[in-house]
Parts: sequence; structure tokens; C-alpha cells
Amino acid sequence: MGDYTSELRKLSPRGFPPSTQALRKPGRLAATGRPGLGRRCYDAFVPTLARGKLITFEGLDGSGKSTQLERLAVALRAERLPVLVTREPGGTWTGEKIRQLLVDSAATALVPTAELALMFASRAQHLSEVIQPALLQGKIVLCDRFTDSSEAYQGGGRKLGSDAVLRLHGILCEDVQPDLTILMDSDVVRSVDRARRRNRSRTVGTSDEGRFEKESRAFFERVRNTYLAIARREPERVVIIDARGSPEETHQQILEAVRRRLKLKTADNGS
Ligand code: TYD
Repeated sequence: MGDYTSELRKLSPRGFPPSTQALRKPGRLAATGRPGLGRRCYDAFVPTLARGKLITFEGLDGSGKSTQLERLAVALRAERLPVLVTREPGGTWTGEKIRQLLVDSAATALVPTAELALMFASRAQHLSEVIQPALLQGKIVLCDRFTDSSEAYQGGGRKLGSDAVLRLHGILCEDVQPDLTILMDSDVVRSVDRARRRNRSRTVGTSDEGRFEKESRAFFERVRNTYLAIARREPERVVIIDARGSPEETHQQILEAVRRRLKLKTADNGS
């Protein structure tokens, strides 16, 4: 994960106000389709600045999202677009400390509510310190996981429900929404086997990052079903990409989705 760390070093939050509140206008809400929640349209709050784009990658462990995120970053940078790559949990010094605890398979006593709270602690710090400043700088932020992960894993997998997650997002993350979410869909057995193999080879002699990968097949089925429910609920934001094709086919599908949804130029489509 050295890439994320070097990306973080490139972005200094210094020079930005500690909060972006001053740039926001109160009150304008756009419909989200989520019961009981207003979705703040971020563009409405930063009307005079060229705001960047937040693209999130989601999917089961081992779905190949991190590889595809890096490939998209390369393609966008080839077009001289300013790209910031980051991840959750993590993305800041504080968040990476929280991540160590969350993924450590020795943390067996962590209860689902504490797990959810830690995910949001990492996210709140990440938004304030990294994501919002980068968006204000006009960057394209590629984030490996965001609140959909909490809804799928803690809401679905741990059975805390979507409502709790969406409420916390509204309170702790000012309800900031991605401009586009790439959902890498794959079957559970295939993804999780891949993640477990990767974890075994990656963590020889270091700390074990496999806490979630120890979960049951039923847990990951709930995670996947929740992801698919989010995609059905918010089709304008979430694009489902079949992660079972070759890496190149998958990359092309993602480029096409980014071009179509965000009207960004990419090296491969020449538009
Ligand atoms: P990640 O490093 O993306 O795992 P992988 O590379 O295996 O896909 O994320 C670490 C784990 O954290 C992953 O198992 C999913 C979990 N997670 C949650 O349960 N909730 C969340 O909100 C986030 C961001 C991650």
C-alpha cells in the first residue's frame, strides 16, 4: 500500500482552511431517493469554484478494485488530469492507525457498532483532511472504498442495517456523495478465495490484515446483496462492472463508464 502513502505525501492540507464550511451555502438539497434523507448536492455548495470529482471503487475483498483503480489513475493522468488516489479505512495518518486495528485479525473482540464507529472516524478525518481539500483544488479523487462499504459490510454483513449507516454519514460526513461509484461485482467464492490467497502471500512475517476475510460465506453474500441493493437504489451514481472478465476488458468498461457519466476525456477513448 506504499502507493497510497506516497499519494498522501503529495497532498498537503496546509494552505486550506481547516473546514470548507465557509464555502458552503446552506439549505439547497437535492432528492436522493433514500427514505428520510436529503442528499446535499455538493456542487450547490461550491458554486464559484471548479470542483473536482469524487470517484469511489467498491466491491468484495478480492474483486480486483484496487488494481482497476490504479489503472484508471494511469489513464486519467495520461490525459494530464489531476488525480489523487486514496483509500478507506485509512487515507490519513489517523485513518491508517485506525485501519491497523480494523483489519488486524487479532481484534476479535471488536463489536459491530464499534467497528462501524471506527470506519466513520477514519472517514470523517479523511474527508476533512484529504478529500474535500482535493476536490476544492479541482482534483479527481479516486477513493478505494467509501460509505457504501460501511453500508454493505456493517449494515448488511454485520446486520446493523442501512439506516444507521446513512444517518451517521449525514451527521459525520456532511452527507458528501461520490459523483460516480464503480461497483466491481463478482461472485462471493471467487472474490474471497482470491483475497485470502493474496493476504497469505502479502502478510508473511508482518501483521495479519485478514480480519474480514475470516468471515463466512453467508456474511459476504449479505455484503454483495447490499451492494446490489445500493446500485438499484441509486442507479445514477453507481455503475455495476462485471469483475469476472479479463483485467483489460474490465478496465475498458470502467473507462467507458467514467467517460459517459462524468464526461471526462481518457487516453483510450480519444474523445
Ligand atoms: P480493503 O483494504 O479495501 O480490502 P480489500 O483490498 O481486501 O478489498 O478494506 C479492508 C477491509 O475493510 C475490507 O474487508 C472491507 C472492510 N471495510 C468495512 O467493513 N467497512 C468500511 O466502511 C470500509 C471502508 C471497509
